Amino acid sequence: MTATATSAPVTSRVLTGITTSGTPHLGNYVGAIRPAVAASREPGVESYFFLADLHALIKVSEPARVQRSTLEIAAAWLACGLDPSRVRFYRQSDVPEISELTWLLTCVAGKGLLNRAHAYKAAVDRNRGEGQDEDAGITAGLFMYPVLMSADILLFNAHRVPVGRDQVQHIEMARDFGQRFNHLYGEHFVLPEAVVEAQVATLPGLDGRKMSKSYDNTIPLFAPRETLHRLVASIVTDSRAPGTPKDTEGSALFQLYQAFATAAETDAMRAAFADGIGWGDAKGQVFARIDAEVAPLRERYDALVADPAAIERQLRDGATRLRDEVASPFLRTLRHAVGLRDLSHASVATAPASTPARAALPAFKQYRDDDGRFAFKLHAGDASLLLQGRAHAGGRDAGRQVAALRADGGAGLMLDAGGVTLAGDVVGTLADGVTLDALRAALALLAADADAAS
Ligand code: TRP
Repeated sequence: MTATATSAPVTSRVLTGITTSGTPHLGNYVGAIRPAVAASREPGVESYFFLADLHALIKVSEPARVQRSTLEIAAAWLACGLDPSRVRFYRQSDVPEISELTWLLTCVAGKGLLNRAHAYKAAVDRNRGEGQDEDAGITAGLFMYPVLMSADILLFNAHRVPVGRDQVQHIEMARDFGQRFNHLYGEHFVLPEAVVEAQVATLPGLDGRKMSKSYDNTIPLFAPRETLHRLVASIVTDSRAPGTPKDTEGSALFQLYQAFATAAETDAMRAAFADGIGWGDAKGQVFARIDAEVAPLRERYDALVADPAAIERQLRDGATRLRDEVASPFLRTLRHAVGLRDLSHASVATAPASTPARAALPAFKQYRDDDGRFAFKLHAGDASLLLQGRAHAGGRDAGRQVAALRADGGAGLMLDAGGVTLAGDVVGTLADGVTLDALRAALALLAADADAAS
């Protein structure tokens, strides 16, 4: 059975999270922002973009910096063309279901697996190397980082997660936790795949090493034009004089140019290097090429940052819709699955420890139909269709109707001209050849199983 909040045979869900601990730089733009915004415009892709501010707390203990970074990163994505009307755009801490799922996953996550997480292990190794207590200065937040990240991904049943190589292990952990949960409680989670873009260049920084905040060699994406000019001029080069041929191989300046230029422009620059272009001249051209792409984005960025309340509204709005349509109904299903249930439907008479016939039980499946409405089906244990549920505009309404059917256990169902009804509401139509009694029996079976398990 799949009880995923949405079943998406045609669309693929892609989820991207950005930790709000710094200022976006050119390396983020080339390596993540630009390709992700482009990918979000492809048909058949449902994109989720979120600001991982809960993750930021693990690294940053300056509140003002977390806030500033959240604003800057949100504005940067919007300035670079992210369209909140066609992608899910939200802030992690605005979706409390993520934190709640973190606990459910914590309870299935193997501690031994977490012990092997690279970031945690590196911190332990550093302590050992310094002759300190293994866990000196290490928070449980760092240790639990992969579980929170798994909740980010599994809550939305993302199929693909574009990440850098350093994050692949985290996606594997998400698969592991999701699989354990599915094994214990039924097939609820899609197991995500990491997507490592091989052809996306890692940009060199000012010193020629990979551009990274931890090397302090970055060029801020939206630095004022003069600052951008000055920083490009400070990129390290060798000491060859104008007129002497230059190597493009291993030249940070050339790689930076290439990340912004067309193939033809790149060829022309390669020729100029061979012809001995002076470094000052080359730097001027690299600056001009980057600025040509970034200037219009910078203008939008400056306008966005000047009106933080508008961004706040957009983020809240995104989270509200996401909670109503996806997170809240799915979490309700998950709570029920693990036994966090309404006591009024519990039976005290019987309490068998196991339910061997589990696989043969009828199952609800909620999904989005072609018109984007929220619908559901009820299948028998042999997977044949029993009830085609009515489609609703909101996921909450569909979720409520499923919950009402479960709670009813089949007793209150009626048949009228509009279909099957429950307490006067049309809930759906019987599948061909299915009788109302068969539907009632299936719901009774589900209710009995729920009681037995609670
Ligand atoms: N850990 C990611 C990073 O540092 C950020 C992140 C948090 C993330 N949750 C995520 C990325 C979920 C992808 C999916 O880059």
